[in-house]
Amino acid sequence: MIECRICGGVVEEFLDLGRQPLCDAFLRPADIDAEFFHRLAVGCCETCTLVQLAEEVPRTRMFHEGYPYHSSGTSVMREHFARTALGLVETELATADSFFVEIGCNDGFLLRKIAESGIRHLGFEPAAGVAKVARERDVRLRMDFFEESTAAAVRETEGPADVIYSANTICQIPYVDSLLRGVDALLSPDGVFVFEDPYLGDVIERISFDQICNEHFYLFSVRSVRAMAERFGFELVDVQRLPVQGGSVRYTLARAGARRPAPSVARLLAEENAQGLTEPDTLRGFASSVTRIRDDLVGLLRSLQDQGKTVVGYGATAKSATVTNFCGIGPELVSYVCDTTPAKQNRLTPGMHIPVRPPESFATDDPDYALLFAWNHAEEIMAKEQRFRETGGRWILYVPEVKVV
Ligand code: SAM
Ligand code: TMP
Ligand code: ZN
Repeated sequence: MIECRICGGVVEEFLDLGRQPLCDAFLRPADIDAEFFHRLAVGCCETCTLVQLAEEVPRTRMFHEGYPYHSSGTSVMREHFARTALGLVETELATADSFFVEIGCNDGFLLRKIAESGIRHLGFEPAAGVAKVARERDVRLRMDFFEESTAAAVRETEGPADVIYSANTICQIPYVDSLLRGVDALLSPDGVFVFEDPYLGDVIERISFDQICNEHFYLFSVRSVRAMAERFGFELVDVQRLPVQGGSVRYTLARAGARRPAPSVARLLAEENAQGLTEPDTLRGFASSVTRIRDDLVGLLRSLQDQGKTVVGYGATAKSATVTNFCGIGPELVSYVCDTTPAKQNRLTPGMHIPVRPPESFATDDPDYALLFAWNHAEEIMAKEQRFRETGGRWILYVPEVKVV
């Protein structure tokens, strides 16, 4: 039996994606034999409805010097963070001598925007490679995991934070008790803790099962975040749906009773209840759709292989590790994956060992089909790859269903 990481309730497993590698561990050929695997299964707490993984991967295995994801890697995310920083500067950070703390600041793109507004700031980032890039942007950074002890140390030396912000990181922190006690230690009495992560509602609606990977320990919903906040003396006072990362929600927590909750909280909660978002039937239906997608995708790729068509992957996303490993898609079905991230290029994809090539290969090879792993960037990619489509190339999409366009 699995116990809920937050409330101790029973976690009912609803999907097992099998033996999986670390989704961001792009390998040198020499490292194949030492590859780490774990069981990727997901369940829902019967008491607080928090959706969580059955197994935790130790954090230093994931977030180390070679962690390849860069926040500033796509124009959509750069625009999103620039807008987010501006929004915070104009509202929560508008008072004199505000202090801003970011958890998981990665390569420092958002923090740079905050710094340019002259705001006192500090980023927490444990992964040395991206932390170095952030330091080169001349932002203040602590190369550490945010948790109770490190947060308390910052409170001691720098005083309380007006805003603690985090994108795509809180869902990666299984040790939520230490995290929220850290927020409690560092946040000013009327400060806010704002975080955004992929939204369970979008995952279920779009059948985007590839959002489930070792780095997404939690898939949050309004209901589960509200319960989590209350356990630690906070209150969920605002929620906002965001189009990024395949559908996210930004949650704003304040100290209990400090702020009046915005109507958006009750509204989205009512939507979740009406949908039966965390009902066993909904979750079982999701799991059977995932199996259907796997069968359809593998069927399509095998039939293209029989016809002698060339198929490559587009975007060596963390998400693609879940898909390729769950479906058993290796280099015989998808000959390579192109990606703009230098740290992923000339490596092999986790688990299935498909070579990763720079996008120039895609431009010169003229493949017949491209399997769009970076489906959350479809608009940007299809706009820049118009020539591929015009010269007869076809995209393969797999969420919410397998489609050739
Ligand atoms: N916030 C960035 C964004 O949205 O583009 C980066 C997101 S990336 C998926 C998550 C980042 O959080 C990684 O750079 C990782 O090293 C960092 N991280 C993981 N656990 C952390 C913790 N406990 N405290 C601070 N950063 C953490
Ligand atoms: P993400 O889904 O986690 O944002 O990762 C997107 C990945 O796709 C990242 O490795 C960069 C890659 N990518 C490209 O290779 N070309 C592109 O045009 C875009 C938008 C992303
Ligand atoms: Zn629970």
